[in-house]
Amino acid sequence: MFFCVTFLILYSFMECQSEQLQVVGPKAPLVAVTGEDLVLPCFIKPNTNALNMTVEWLRVELGVLFVHSYRSHEDQNENQAQAYKGRTSLFKEELQKGNASLKLSALQVSDAGKYVCHIEDKSWIQEVPVYVTVAVLGSHPVITVESYDNSGGINLVCESRGWNPEPQVQWLDREQVILTAEDTQIHRDTEGFSVKSHITVFDYSDSNRFYCRLQQKHHMIETHIIINSKIFHAWKTIVGISVLALLFAVGLILTAVICHKKGHSHG
Ligand SMILES: *[C@@H]1O[C@H](CO)[C@@H](O)[C@H](O)[C@H]1NC(C)=O
Ligand SMILES: *[C@@H]1O[C@H](CO)[C@@H](O)[C@H](O)[C@H]1NC(C)=O
Repeated sequence: MFFCVTFLILYSFMECQSEQLQVVGPKAPLVAVTGEDLVLPCFIKPNTNALNMTVEWLRVELGVLFVHSYRSHEDQNENQAQAYKGRTSLFKEELQKGNASLKLSALQVSDAGKYVCHIEDKSWIQEVPVYVTVAVLGSHPVITVESYDNSGGINLVCESRGWNPEPQVQWLDREQVILTAEDTQIHRDTEGFSVKSHITVFDYSDSNRFYCRLQQKHHMIETHIIINSKIFHAWKTIVGISVLALLFAVGLILTAVICHKKGHSHG
């Protein structure tokens, strides 16, 4: 009888303890850029020493891939998938506090997907999924002057390639005020998303500065172009000269045609 009661008390205590413990992962998918190091959070709540537990980080989409294994107080990575060799580690001091977060270095595009943090003790097992999105920053944007606009503006084009996912494109003036682009095209190709954005800018001050900014969550790449207002005037002059030249050419042609006709009628 005594044994039985003791057993029951012990059993319910263990049950209770294992029910209280909960493995917690991140609430939202993690987003990081290729080449960066990423910490995949996973910890036991409330804080419990996990040095004596088994911690497995796995990927389970196409069969089971071992990302990192910790058992019997040490890393045991003989089954580790080739792609993760030398790129994973746990935080050993943190493990004492129940923090089984994984550090994944030099992020690659192929690291994107679903991971499972699996923690196992003598009396319980718990798992949480952790989703990783890998972003790729595109090439540094380049602004080129495309043409002169009839209305006195200059047409600029900003181009960049190789983004994933697609970036947000913004044009700004030198006071960082957002300007409205005429048209922004984003295409998907083998390199990722490529961007081509057009804007017509006008002469605002002595040194006009226009920014083209590409943004992806927390990452931003921008470039700018400086257009001296003399250039706007030079453009106007060039266009003026072109119009004169064109009129002159039309005049010449008309004269030639008239002379030709006259020549014919004489002949
Ligand atoms: C972990 O295991 C070792 C020996 O296997 C034991 O001495 C130690 O008390 C255990 N620690 C915890 C927190 O369970
Ligand atoms: C777990 O450890 C990592 C690495 O030191 C840290 O970034 C993270 O904040 C820790 N998590 C908790 C819940 O303490």
